[in-house]
Amino acid sequence: MNKEHVDLLITDAAEVISCDGPAEGLAGDTVRHLDPIFNGAVAVRDGKIVAVGDTTELKSRYYPKRNFQADGCLVSPGLVDPHSHLLYAGSRHDEWEAKVTGRGIDAGLQGGIHRSVAWTRAATDEVLITQAGRDLDEMLIHGTTMLEAKTGYGLDQDTELRLLQLTNSIDHFITVIPTYLGAHVPPKEYLQDTDAYVEMVIDLLPQAAKFAEYCDVCCDPIGFSSDQCRRIGKCAIELGLGIRVHADQTGNANGGLLAAELGAASADHVDYTPDEDLIAMAAAGTAAILFPSVTHHLLEMIPLPKYGELEAPPKPFMPQLAERTINSGCVVALSTDYNPGSSPTLSMQTVMQLAARLFRLGYAEIWNMSTLNAAATLGRGHERGSLTPGKRADIIIWRVPEHGMVIHRFGTNLVRDVFVAGEQVIDQARFA
Ligand code: NIG
Ligand code: FE
Repeated sequence: MNKEHVDLLITDAAEVISCDGPAEGLAGDTVRHLDPIFNGAVAVRDGKIVAVGDTTELKSRYYPKRNFQADGCLVSPGLVDPHSHLLYAGSRHDEWEAKVTGRGIDAGLQGGIHRSVAWTRAATDEVLITQAGRDLDEMLIHGTTMLEAKTGYGLDQDTELRLLQLTNSIDHFITVIPTYLGAHVPPKEYLQDTDAYVEMVIDLLPQAAKFAEYCDVCCDPIGFSSDQCRRIGKCAIELGLGIRVHADQTGNANGGLLAAELGAASADHVDYTPDEDLIAMAAAGTAAILFPSVTHHLLEMIPLPKYGELEAPPKPFMPQLAERTINSGCVVALSTDYNPGSSPTLSMQTVMQLAARLFRLGYAEIWNMSTLNAAATLGRGHERGSLTPGKRADIIIWRVPEHGMVIHRFGTNLVRDVFVAGEQVIDQARFA
């Protein structure tokens, strides 16, 4: 039999998980299904997946330029991280110590953001872009091959535009999708007149639209009202931008409902979004993005020892959130929400581990939520997020043989090799 030529044939994987599914993501209960191929192989040509299947079968069909031994390891699609705040300056580790110990003053979510804003405004382009480059390298080594990156630590027109231009100029193996988040929280100068700040956010939209694919609005008690977010969102839509919403993280501000009304790509956090609004999101095709690393880092489920007593944790209901969003019929995805305050982690592996531990999710749904569903929320479900013939060959070879082990074995980096568009960029956890 004449064999077909391919560039790369990855063989002898203990498991290949394709995370295949519809381009719009796996909605509701369908997310709970994963079908590993044992003794699997992946064929790649011109940077794209050609076939996924059994090693013996693919060896008999394809003649590769390069045969890559997966050595009994797990093979998966690259991880997709659909919500991050990549560009910022400074570190807020001091606030966190105050929070965990209960000693000293914790700056609180909004107060803390203002500190990052001051440092970011003062930082040079070089400082910002150097840090972003290092962070992206670290994300790649931990398996992320696509990332959404928001502004939101400028909160004045000059800095917001600068952050967008810098984000847009990034050239990295990780595909970076820029989002304009001028409406993150009202800046200190506008706390008394948030409508005036909203006008500034809107005023910058035509410029922002040149560099961003999405506009995000924070519809939350610490951010903006749903009327303010609607105004921004409608202008953004007119300019051709997609919509993302930071919704209801610190209270129900009707953020999930607004996201559905605007036909947003996603409503993120949704901690306080009621069931009927999650159902409206599902009907509108608005995905829910969840952040177990935020729940972890903000100690949302941990009682605080105070005056010899244990104070009740602020969000004891978080273990039910994932189940509620899935049952409402939403496409649900996971993400780091990488930022200097509520989630200083670059690792989707950490997020996946915390998703099981804190959100009571099983291995199958965690994998789908970190690959295909995450790509779908970025409008990339047709070309990324799964090992499906025709999609870009973003592939991870793991140090462990089974997909559940990536989630079970927390605390170390389990990525061995990373392929981006069929090229090996990480070799034994180091840049190739
Ligand atoms: O989780 N409005 C939301 N706030 C951020 C928190 C960022 C920070 O603490 O700096 C978020 O996306
Ligand atoms: Fe965020």
